[in-house]
Amino acid sequence: MGRPREEAPVDAPAALDQYGCSSCHALHAGGVGPAFVWVAWRYRGQHGAQDTVASFITRGGVGPWGGVMPNLAVPPAQARELAQWILALPPEVPPDPRRFRLQ
Ligand code: HEC
Repeated sequence: MGRPREEAPVDAPAALDQYGCSSCHALHAGGVGPAFVWVAWRYRGQHGAQDTVASFITRGGVGPWGGVMPNLAVPPAQARELAQWILALPPEVPPDPRRFRLQ
């Protein structure tokens, strides 16, 4: 694992509060956005998933879940830390198909 050298460590749960991520995302069940364990499930085992998810966190927009996330102006270094944290969650729960269309 390890962090890129130039990045200061980020307290991911605090950042989720700071940016209001938690108002739309829950850990284990759906809010307005996909639960973070669903995101971990979707990208499990995929190379490059951290880049994909980090760049989505920096810009938001139309994503793969059939919704739109606002651009919250998260700095890229912090978005990478958040992506790493989200993808490290146990991918124990497949997404609820009633809530989100997976392509
Ligand atoms: C206003 C509500 C809202 C806020 C605030 C929000 N999100 Fe989202 N987020 C969404 C929605 C809706 C989606 C589904 C977009 C789609 O269709 O893929 C989403 C999708 C995601 C995804 C899935 C990306 C993928 O490729 O599967 C991640 C990861 C994510 N958000 C992280 C965050 C983080 C981290 C924050 C805080 C910096 C945040 N979100 C704040 C609504 C929100």
